[in-house]
This record gives sequence, C-alpha cells and structure tokens, in this order.
Amino acid sequence: MASIDRVISGGYFVLGSEVRQFEQSFASYLGANHCVGLANGTDAIELGLRAMGVSAGDQVATVANAGMYATTAILAIGAEPYFMDVDLDTKVATFEEVVRAAKAGVKAVVVTHLYGLAIPEIQLIADYCSKNDVLLLEDCAQAHGAQISGKRVGTFGDVGSFSFYPTKNLGALGDGGAITTDNQSIAEKIRLLRQYGWNQKYTVQVLGARNSRLDEMQAAILSDFLPLLDRANARRQEHAARYDSLICQPNVTGPHQAGASYVAHLYVIRSEKRDALREHLRTLNIGSDVHYPIPDHRQPAFDGRFSEIRLENTERLVKEILTLPCYPEMNDEEADCVIAAVNDWAT
Ligand SMILES: Cc1ncc(COP(=O)(O)O)c(C=O)c1O
Repeated sequence: MASIDRVISGGYFVLGSEVRQFEQSFASYLGANHCVGLANGTDAIELGLRAMGVSAGDQVATVANAGMYATTAILAIGAEPYFMDVDLDTKVATFEEVVRAAKAGVKAVVVTHLYGLAIPEIQLIADYCSKNDVLLLEDCAQAHGAQISGKRVGTFGDVGSFSFYPTKNLGALGDGGAITTDNQSIAEKIRLLRQYGWNQKYTVQVLGARNSRLDEMQAAILSDFLPLLDRANARRQEHAARYDSLICQPNVTGPHQAGASYVAHLYVIRSEKRDALREHLRTLNIGSDVHYPIPDHRQPAFDGRFSEIRLENTERLVKEILTLPCYPEMNDEEADCVIAAVNDWAT
C-alpha cells in the first residue's frame, strides 16, 4: 500500500523511475546486463524475437506443450512455427529436437522453462545455437529464479522473456512482462519497440512497434515482491518435495524434480487414468487443472494446418498430465489433504 501511495502521490504513471528501478533490480537479481519492462509475457516473446531480427516468413521453433503463448507471438510477426517435441520425463525441449529444428533451417528457437523447471540441457542448447547462428529466446514465464550451476534462466540465450501475471512465481497485481538480455543493441531496440518505435517523442525510428509498457504501479509492486521471490520459491519447493516423498499411488508418476533448477511453478503429475483422478479430486473439493489440454499444433484455430505433424511425447502427455495445487501460501495441512486424496484414490 505504501508503494501504491507513493506512485499515486508522485503523479507519474507510465515509464518513470519505478520502472527503471525495477528493471535494474531484476537484471541484477538474474545476473543479466539489461532488463526492459513490458506489458505482458506474450509481448515479451514477440518483441524479443523482433528485436533479435526475426521477421515475416522466418521459421521459428517452439515446443507445442506450453500453452500456445510462443506460437501466438511467432504468428503475430508473420513467422512460421516449427514444432519440437519434448522429453517425456522432464516435459521440456531437448537438445536433440533443437538440432532437428536448426537443421530444418529455423532462424530462431524459443525454449520454455516449463512448470518452473530450468531446461536440463539449456547450456548445451545455448552453445549449439550460438555456434550455428540460430537465435535463442528462453521463455521464463514459469521459472523466475530457477538456476543451473548458479546461473539463472533468462541469461543463457540471446533473450529471456518473463511474464508477471499474478499467479507467476513473481507476479504483479495485474499484467506485466519483461525481457532480459546481455546485448545492448537488442535492449535498445526493445525500448523502441515497446513505445510506438519512438526514439524521441513522436519520432518513429523503427516499424513493427506498439504500446507495450510496464506501468509504474506494477513496477513498484514488483520491486516490493522481488526480495520475497527466493523465499516464495523455497516454499513451493517444500510442497513439491512433500508431494514427491508422500504421494504413493501406483497409477501416479510425480515429476520428481528437486534442487535449484526447479522452482515448482506447477506440480504436474502423470496418470493414465488422469480424468478419473481429476474427478475424484473434484468430489473432494480439491482444485486441479491440465496445463495444457490442447497442444499448439492441434488448436482448432489452425483448422488442420498442422494435421500431418506428429509429436509423440507431446501428444501422449496431453492425455496424462494433471496439475496439483502448489503455491507458497498453501500450508502443510492443505498439502497433506491433497496427498491423502491422491493416495486414497481407488483406481
Ligand atoms: C510459459 C508461458 N509463456 C508466456 C506466457 C504469457 O504471459 P502473459 O500472460 O503475461 O502474456 C505465459 C503465461 O501466461 C506462460 O505460462
């Protein structure tokens, strides 16, 4: 409330000192040279790709199990999505699939650190992309703070994109997003792209721009929440570890991801009888969800455009995945209720 009061009494609401302050703090938290605040995470992917030089007609690779956000951004540029399959256990992009995409001629690859898991092969993928002139954007919307060998996601590729939608590990009280990069010219280009292409008021320096600004109120709120992020992630990790060790149900496979590389944005189990389990939980008033029920290449809007494409693991996972409650404010008793409900499920 104090921060909100400060913004209101300051009388400055868009692209001011609060945004600059948050950009600096978030860049330094991640270990990136630059952060640029944007209106949301989907814009962050799109403007990140545009700033790296992706344009209409280019092919851009993405996984198809991450909610269609990257695909939406790719299509908004007029680029063509190239779909990669994911690993059955980690549910994220693999080095092998990135190589397949690169050999097919993609200009850029978007990899998603899905459910809070830093992609195990991200360093390998980043090295390969840089050697082979393939641009790499990491979508970190679900993985704020996740790290591998002390390096946080959003610092491996050319650009990292973030969403601050309220349910994210670092969430605002409304929409927000950002990109991170070590490349100064990419950062400068995104600063133009987020505000009509202006290099100064009313002078349009680049085309393909829009209005995509993080506002002062959300930036002030995010600056308050950022110092709490590691503690909130630790709490999520505790819940995930509790589920891993206490869920004991032959028809359920847990993610079994632990350590700093998994910030437990979502705790996603697998079961061949997923729909029955979901119904069982519903009768006990336990919320669950499927992230995500339709892979991108099967979305109805495509009207069969990708009907030839088969992504074996992605298509199998869609039928088996189920997200159990996992958030920092949940207490141990609530987690135990979920565990008991899963364990008592008579399949
Ligand atoms: C993996 C992923 N990428 C991108 C986005 C898009 O972010 P936003 O909703 O802020 O546009 C989201 C979430 O909404 C997401 O989960």
